[in-house]
Amino acid sequence: MKEQFLWGSATAAYQCEGAWNLDGKGANVWDEFCHSEKNVKGITGDVSCDFYHHYKEDIRMMAESGQNTYRFSISWSRIFPKDDHVVNEVGFKFYDDVLTECEKYGIVPNVTLVHYDLPDYIGAKGGWLYEHVADEFAFYAKTVFEYFGNRIPYYVTINEPTHNAQCNYLTGNYPPNEQNPQHFVECIYRMVICTAKAIQEFRKLNLTSKIGLVHASCSADIFVDSEEYRSAQKYAEWFINGCVLDPAIKGAYDPDMIQKIKDSGIDLSFVKEEELALCKDNTIDFLGQNAYCRNVVKPYTSGETQVTVNNSGQGPAREGKIIKGWFESDYNESMVLNKWGREIYPKCIYDCLIRRKQEYGDIPIYITECGHGAYDTPDQNGYVEDDDRIQFLNDFIYWTLKAKDEGVDVRGFYVWSTMDLYSWINGYQKRYGLVRVGYDDSNLRRIPKKSYYWYKDFIERRKELDA
Ligand code: BG6
Repeated sequence: MKEQFLWGSATAAYQCEGAWNLDGKGANVWDEFCHSEKNVKGITGDVSCDFYHHYKEDIRMMAESGQNTYRFSISWSRIFPKDDHVVNEVGFKFYDDVLTECEKYGIVPNVTLVHYDLPDYIGAKGGWLYEHVADEFAFYAKTVFEYFGNRIPYYVTINEPTHNAQCNYLTGNYPPNEQNPQHFVECIYRMVICTAKAIQEFRKLNLTSKIGLVHASCSADIFVDSEEYRSAQKYAEWFINGCVLDPAIKGAYDPDMIQKIKDSGIDLSFVKEEELALCKDNTIDFLGQNAYCRNVVKPYTSGETQVTVNNSGQGPAREGKIIKGWFESDYNESMVLNKWGREIYPKCIYDCLIRRKQEYGDIPIYITECGHGAYDTPDQNGYVEDDDRIQFLNDFIYWTLKAKDEGVDVRGFYVWSTMDLYSWINGYQKRYGLVRVGYDDSNLRRIPKKSYYWYKDFIERRKELDA
């Protein structure tokens, strides 16, 4: 039977659940960071849009707009609040209830095991750098697989290893707020091994469900067609994609990439060959590809490694990378940027999908996030006419379907985000939701935006074409 194309939207636990210390949940690294002096803006996810208490309303609204899938994440520290492997049954009950609600409407769940929010007790031991993080993660993953089994048809190990590692260890805007290339590489390695070990546990259970990874970056582009630029592009592809996708899909690293990392002065003595070998037999079933923007690069010129972002939402600061000895970001005047200095270039999703097929063959791909961050302006009733978001989504979907028509095995598309939620360091003013959340309203009122109705109509029109 032909698998139905999935049209839905996505959220992540820390960004939407709230209830940060309710019903036995333990603290995670974001709770710890947001409650510390390092959080200069003082904004937290303690309550956010309170999905914990509003999930029935949110899932009903998804169903009413015709969405047939929902991507969300499980909070590890809700399941294992302390460092003792003792399950918090109330934590499981919450996700059980969320799944029941999805099942009521025929919404297919796509569930991520960790979306940035490592338990605080893992953070205290070094977080992703902790030598035994992969064993801890595999234990947690196994517990979830055993508990929910085939009720969850799509499991995701980790959300965006590359972006998470960059924010944690290069930009330093996410906890533990470091700028340390050595730790960046080590973090990527541990996440790769976490995925392999979790998949090893998953395979033992012979479930019919599928398991994948959600990856952040689209492809690397160049403006000049020369040998130097093509070489910078190759290094950028390794840096933003290959370092996670090669082991996850091909089961091994390109030796040239390893040599390049060593030549950059990174000490790889933490790598254990027997761990790396696990990747070979524990590759992913599907790729979750998040799509926001491309990376335009040129040959490295000078300066230390640095990755900059714009968390203020006020121009003109652009996102950019200098990766010493590898490549650096390039710009030109024709690039259209959003207020957070990120390029808006819808064709990037097409280029990315075509290149994934060239590099990794026919792996099934789901666009697990795609969305437009903006300062929405509501009218007096709270209604937002977000034509900019509609345009963004319309264009990205157009290019996704073009790649599908040309033979890329794309099977689903998730708008980021289902409703407004906490946008990490950007706080709450940068909004992505199809549904507005009235944060000043005592009941956190949900008001569908124009984009919600646009998506509803779009899905309705697609029904026949997808059948
Ligand atoms: C993705 C993350 O990278 O981008 C989401 O998976 C995040 O968690 C989204 O919210 C948008 O980024 P930001 O920083 O604008 O919220």
